[in-house]
Amino acid sequence: MSRRVDYTDGKQLPKDMQKYWYQRYRYFRLFDQGIRMDKEGWYSVTPEKIAAHIAQRCACDVVIDAFCGVGGNAIQFAMTCHRVIAIDIDPVRLMCAKHNAKIYGVEDRIEFICGDYMTLIPRLKADVVFLSPPWGGPGYLTQDEFDIKRDIPMDGEFLFNETCKITKNIAYFLPRNSNPEQIGRLAGSGPENTCEIEKNVLNHVCKAWTAYFGDLVAVPERVNGKEEEAGGAQVEGEEDQYFDGGEKERQDQCFEGREEGYEYGYENGGYYLEHD
Ligand SMILES: C[S@@+](CC[C@H](N)C(=O)[O-])C[C@H]1O[C@@H](n2cnc3c(N)ncnc32)[C@H](O)[C@@H]1O
Repeated sequence: MSRRVDYTDGKQLPKDMQKYWYQRYRYFRLFDQGIRMDKEGWYSVTPEKIAAHIAQRCACDVVIDAFCGVGGNAIQFAMTCHRVIAIDIDPVRLMCAKHNAKIYGVEDRIEFICGDYMTLIPRLKADVVFLSPPWGGPGYLTQDEFDIKRDIPMDGEFLFNETCKITKNIAYFLPRNSNPEQIGRLAGSGPENTCEIEKNVLNHVCKAWTAYFGDLVAVPERVNGKEEEAGGAQVEGEEDQYFDGGEKERQDQCFEGREEGYEYGYENGGYYLEHD
């Protein structure tokens, strides 16, 4: 006989999932206000600080969150974009996302669609598309290298090329053991031959990479003889970091700041967050 598990109750979570429970406020700052999760939601949700940063970078009129899960990214997009189209194939996870968006007071800016993103593509229009497809479960780090084509269930290269039919402005959330050259080659097959790979770091640990394409690639602006990057990091006296393969990494920059109970910053090419 199977037992029903409430995945929003830490006491009911299986032992191997307790580590996610301890990080609940990293996933959702407002967790205690009644955030809902299912099993896959726990190991696939984007931590709030990273989601907020990506949302800043993707600020636009209409954004599509093609694989919205329990809403980690969609909620943050609703804070920087005029309208969010949030899609998920799983009705339970979509219900969690809707409920969680209500807790953050942003449900009125999000249109929730239950369906297969791949088949919806011909009917979708947006300024930016955010892709955070499944990575094949928590075991994705056990292999030396994550192959976007082989390890993303709907073929991550095909997914990218199909998404280019909607827009060239794509943010692609990928495992940290992805192959940067394979990501760079995606740009080659897209409308513009450039991408930027950003390391997303929490607590000095790199959690994931976000690859930006099209107009989302951060072009340093010259301000008073200095170059300033999106995200607030300043670069002094650095060369443009666009590489031939169409890939750009941000390195050797740093900034830091404080916020109620957190210290955050950007160093060694990635963002970090530390609790007091
Ligand atoms: C990595 S999770 C997304 C997590 C999300 N970014 C968050 O912060 O909560 C991937 C999601 O893609 C959904 N999914 C898988 N195949 C899909 C498809 N063909 N179309 C739409 N959603 C799909 C899964 O149900 C899962 O919720």
